[in-house]
Amino acid sequence: MRSKLVVGNWKMHGSLAANSELLKGLLAGIARAGSVDVAVCAPFPYLAQLQAMLAATPLRWGAQSLSEHASGAYTGEVSAAMLGDFGCRFVIVGHSERRTLYCETDATVAAKFVAAKAAGLIPILCVGETLAQRDAGETLRVVRSQLDAVIAVAGADCFAGAVVAYEPVWAIGTGRTATPAQAQEVHAAIRARIAEADAAVAPVLQILYGGSVKASSAGELFAQQDIDGGLVGGASLVADEFLAICQAANR
Ligand code: PGA
Repeated sequence: MRSKLVVGNWKMHGSLAANSELLKGLLAGIARAGSVDVAVCAPFPYLAQLQAMLAATPLRWGAQSLSEHASGAYTGEVSAAMLGDFGCRFVIVGHSERRTLYCETDATVAAKFVAAKAAGLIPILCVGETLAQRDAGETLRVVRSQLDAVIAVAGADCFAGAVVAYEPVWAIGTGRTATPAQAQEVHAAIRARIAEADAAVAPVLQILYGGSVKASSAGELFAQQDIDGGLVGGASLVADEFLAICQAANR
């Protein structure tokens, strides 16, 4: 039996004051999440704030990206070990905004995944198709190739200690959520691909759905057999809405 996980992706939002209010709101209501694991991924400058406010609480935290390099002349980059210094448990890897806006290739994403694992972080590997790819019937091929790129570099057993997030690009920030059936189909295919690589890890791998998850849609999504929680963007910035999503996972 897999436990559920709900992760908030704040993207480039927040301030010391706004984060403090949001985190206080989440901590006040976190009991609603029951046995669900809950985490928030903040911009780098706020990781110290998360560490200070969340260290002794059930809320976990993480970052939204990392460098594939351990150290060196990489101006502007942040290493996995640095994230570890700030108590990060998770790091998002290969989010579609990173792939599209910052030109991260499958190879870069795989290298970042490896760097995260080497530092003891749990990478949340994002995969997902564009609308054009879905319309062309290429969804499962695209998602499989994104997984294959990581398996080729990181090894067949690389998903032990990792999380996968299926995020259809057309559903991110658009208000258009995949139907539970559409999401379940892809989640099952992801689990099947992982099973080919590593039969032991596939049944226990947490596969999150992301893309316009709201409290109103979360329950039906999380009830699907292969959906083990969510990666939540916009709705994670509102304490009550995010808590309601966490509560929907606690069934
Ligand atoms: P959204 O973002 O919930 O705002 O669609 C999800 C994500 O990008 O992780």
